[in-house]
Amino acid sequence: MRKTFIAGNWKMNLSKQQATDLAAAIAASIGTGTNVDVAVCPPFGYLDAVRGALGDSAVRLGAQNLNANESGAFTGEISGPMLRDLGCELVIVGHSERRELFGECDQLVNLKAKAGLKYGLHVILCVGETLEQREAGETNRIVGSQVLGSLADISPEQMSNVTLAYEPIWAIGTGKVATPQQAEEVHSHLRDILTQQFGDEVAQQTRIQYGGSVKPGNAEELLAQPNIDGALVGGASLEPESFTGIIGHG
Ligand code: 13P
Repeated sequence: MRKTFIAGNWKMNLSKQQATDLAAAIAASIGTGTNVDVAVCPPFGYLDAVRGALGDSAVRLGAQNLNANESGAFTGEISGPMLRDLGCELVIVGHSERRELFGECDQLVNLKAKAGLKYGLHVILCVGETLEQREAGETNRIVGSQVLGSLADISPEQMSNVTLAYEPIWAIGTGKVATPQQAEEVHSHLRDILTQQFGDEVAQQTRIQYGGSVKPGNAEELLAQPNIDGALVGGASLEPESFTGIIGHG
């Protein structure tokens, strides 16, 4: 009942030409209808060009970050309304690279999530633990508090526009994928947290993506887990064949 959702996070990669070529190839492969929701999240500067390259395909456009304010003196930032203006339908918030490299805490991620929803964007909220936290048996506690902190003041109704992404930091860009069992265990815990916070109906409807070294070769087994509803793909989303290969397992 939860439609699989595969999103590509291109991070800070590609030239403009490469970005539009990639978008056009994905759009051609997906076409206008698919039983899997698909989105790509290019760097800000390519959003407009990628929007054009996606044409009338079913591939949705997303951004990797936003500022929580509507407009004003925030040098170097981009707002929700601007992302909408550029054709974005969704935005990633709370990625571990933003948390670790740019000092984003749950409180700021929460402001960004609320701003995304306020301005009509679907929000992909990322959570995940470090290797040290996993080895200390802290995974469930850490991801649970990230989810609750980042979703503070968000109503059950608004949750229809939220997707969670569990991305263990030790699996991002390392080639070290969580086993399907490891991922499923955390996803199941996240769904329990959603049940406690928002009730069973919301918890059953909310999609939880897995992210961290997802490739065509491991996607099938991950996506077969009952609580893994999609993937947030980094490196493998930069090549049309590998990204569509993952989508083929959805
Ligand atoms: P990789 O797929 O490159 O490990 O990246 C995962 C990720 O961070 C997606 O947001």
